[in-house]
Amino acid sequence: MNDGGVQIHVNGRQVTVAAHDTDMTLAEFFHERMDLTGTKVCCGIGVCRACTVGTRNRPDALMEKTLACTTIVSAIASQHIYTVEGLAEGSTLSELQQGFLESFSFQCGYCTPGFLMAASAMLDHLRQYRIDTDELDAMIETWVCGNLCRCTGYVKYIAAIRKVALLQIKGGA
Ligand code: FES
Ligand code: FES
Repeated sequence: MNDGGVQIHVNGRQVTVAAHDTDMTLAEFFHERMDLTGTKVCCGIGVCRACTVGTRNRPDALMEKTLACTTIVSAIASQHIYTVEGLAEGSTLSELQQGFLESFSFQCGYCTPGFLMAASAMLDHLRQYRIDTDELDAMIETWVCGNLCRCTGYVKYIAAIRKVALLQIKGGA
């Protein structure tokens, strides 16, 4: 684009961002321009990770974690961005979403989208880099344990992520 706008891809859909919106944060853009309110903002200063979304610089790249409250749209132009709204297929929840439900992982749920996206990125890496099961806890610690939950539901989040990850390791998915 030559008018100062940029293109991004959100949950597989190409989105044109007007020039005057390129200095919005990702969270602001999702909420105010796309009506995607699943990405939650809590601290707003890059500490709690409630606003975590997934990003890839190419569709076939591994998913990384990005904080939507501190990342402006122009900094992520042309990238592929994944929010919690993209996890389910129709009415079918992702394995992680189902796992969180079955494990009673969340209480108020405000932090849940951030946990889901951080863990989704971890599982993406786990598909690429095989690890032994005894290395899994350290991997979960690295990818997810920076996310804060004010309702302190950590144990059940970790249990659900562990269960899904173990199935993935054993199933070779
Ligand atoms: S809202 Fe806390 S890190 Fe983004
Ligand atoms: S479930 Fe309430 S903040 Fe985590």
